[in-house]
Amino acid sequence: MKNDSNIPVIAIDGPSASGKGTIAQLVAQKLGFHYLDSGALYRLVALKAMQSHVDIDDIATLVDIARNLNVTFGNDDIALDGYIVTNDIRTEKCGILASQLATYPQIRTALTDRQRDFRQLPGLVTDGRDMGSVIFPDAILKIFLTASAEIRAQRRYKQLIEKGMDANICDLLQDIQQRDERDRNRSTAPLMQGTDARLLDTTSLTIAQAQEKVLCWYNEICAKIPV
Ligand code: DC
Repeated sequence: MKNDSNIPVIAIDGPSASGKGTIAQLVAQKLGFHYLDSGALYRLVALKAMQSHVDIDDIATLVDIARNLNVTFGNDDIALDGYIVTNDIRTEKCGILASQLATYPQIRTALTDRQRDFRQLPGLVTDGRDMGSVIFPDAILKIFLTASAEIRAQRRYKQLIEKGMDANICDLLQDIQQRDERDRNRSTAPLMQGTDARLLDTTSLTIAQAQEKVLCWYNEICAKIPV
């Protein structure tokens, strides 16, 4: 691991559609920090695998895709091989395949350094499943952000409808429950609240309240660091 332990990282892990991406982005903006959506990397591997018709059992090719992803993260857009794929990686199909591919330890390893490279001054806010446990174990603040499966399905439904995409709330709830199950029960880097992570349940919180809570925890921690 590179020795950049003086660069603060806020790691926000949690289940699918918990709102961690929205909160992480807002906190990053507020602090002027960089932002990494680690789930996007798994989704990009899934998209590239679908585009190239790679079989889910062809691990060698999938690892090769993960190692050589030609991706550019812009302010609002993500490009893969020079093409904007911001919406393409957000489909349920892509999310489900990403969750399946994420169970392969070799694919996770292939993405590790790429994620750590995002740790740049003045700091990083990142979200995913193993940001605090595996990728940035020395993160200054680790949060496990969650909400009930029903509320997450409702939020995802609203997002998809607003984007003009097709959605069915019952299917979404089922997908979310299956994805939780797979993300929690895989043998490598399973989704769980680490003993050093603070729980933030957003079931009955607004986005602004959740953002405020994260900033408040971060400021508390910074205030205790001797100058
Ligand atoms: O956060 P998301 O829904 O965009 O992530 C898509 C999938 O990628 C998720 O179901 C599991 C996987 N993932 C992971 O295993 N580890 C991460 N740090 C981020 C995502």
